[in-house]
Amino acid sequence: MKSRPEILIEARELAYRYPGEENISSPAVYGVNLSVKRGEYVSLIGPNGSGKTTLLKLFNALLAPTEGEVLVEGISTTEEEKQVEIRRSCGMIFQNPDNQLVATTVEEDIAFGLENLELPSSEIRKRVEKVSSALGLKHLLKHPPHMLSGGEKGRVAIAGILAMQPSCILMDEPTAMLDSKSRQDVLGAVRHLNREQGLAVVHVTHFPEEAARADRVVIIDQGRLIEQGPPSVIMNKLQLLHQLGLQGTAPSELAALLRKDGFSIPEEILNCQELVQSLCTSELKI
Ligand SMILES: Nc1ncnc2c1ncn2[C@@H]1O[C@H](COP(=O)(O)OP(=O)(O)OP(=O)(O)O)[C@@H](O)[C@H]1O
Ligand SMILES: [Mg+2]
Repeated sequence: MKSRPEILIEARELAYRYPGEENISSPAVYGVNLSVKRGEYVSLIGPNGSGKTTLLKLFNALLAPTEGEVLVEGISTTEEEKQVEIRRSCGMIFQNPDNQLVATTVEEDIAFGLENLELPSSEIRKRVEKVSSALGLKHLLKHPPHMLSGGEKGRVAIAGILAMQPSCILMDEPTAMLDSKSRQDVLGAVRHLNREQGLAVVHVTHFPEEAARADRVVIIDQGRLIEQGPPSVIMNKLQLLHQLGLQGTAPSELAALLRKDGFSIPEEILNCQELVQSLCTSELKI
C-alpha cells in the first residue's frame, strides 16, 4: 500500500506575483514557508489584501508559484496531470460560493464531484444524505442553488467538498455570510471531521473567536508569514494584531484591559472560562 505522507501541504519559499503586476514592488505572496500536517487545524489571519486567498489558491493548484513550490501529499502543484487529484485531496471553499455551484438542484450539486469519481449511485446517495443532514440542508435538496440565500449557498458548497471525503479542506472565510446558528453548524461539522476522521483544515477567517479554536494560528501580512504559533500565544499578541488592524478574542482583549487596571491575570487568556477562572483567583495589585 502507498504510504501517506504525514505532511499534507508544504510550501517552500513560496512566492506569487499576479500577471501584469510586475511593476508593483511587492508580490501578493512572498517567501512563505509553511507546512500543514495530516489532521491539523490551521487558521490564517491577516488584513484585507494580505495574500490569504492567493495562498489558498496556490495550495489548491489553481495558481502556479512564480517562485518556490507547493507540495500536496508530496506532489508538486505544477504537475499538471496531478492537479485533479490535488484538488480532490485538498478541496477549496471559495470566498464567494456562487463561483462554486454548478448543477440545477442542491442534491445534484452536492453529488457533482462524486459523479465525476464514478462512485456507485448507492454510495453517492449515502454521502449526500450524510453531509446534507450534518449541514442542515435536507429540506433544500430539490431546490435550485441559484435561488438559495448566500448562507445556504455557502453550506451547499461546503457539503459538495466534504462529500468527496478530502484529506484537507481549504476554507476562505466560509462563515462570512452565515447567521450564528449556521456558523455553528458548519464549523461544528468541519470540527467533527477534523477530530474524528483526521480531516486537515486551513481556515481563513476575520473572526478572532474562530481563529482561536485552531491548533495553530498563522498571521499573514503583505504576502509574508509574519508569526505563527498556538492560539493562546498568537491571539494574545495584541500590539501586533492591533497594528495590523486585527483583534484578539473578546476575552483576551478584556484581560488586557483588566491587566492595565492592575488585575493579575495570566498572559494566555483565550476564552470566557479562562478569564472567569483567573478573575476568581486574581488580586488587585494596588
Ligand atoms: N486577480 C488578481 N490580479 C491582480 N492582483 C490581485 C488579484 N487578486 C488579488 N490581487 C492582489 O493580491 C493581493 C492579495 O490579495 P488576496 O485576495 O490574496 O488577499 P486576501 O488576504 O485574501 O484579502 P481579503 O481579506 O480582502 O480577502 C492584493 O494586493 C490584491 O490586490
Ligand atoms: Mg481573501
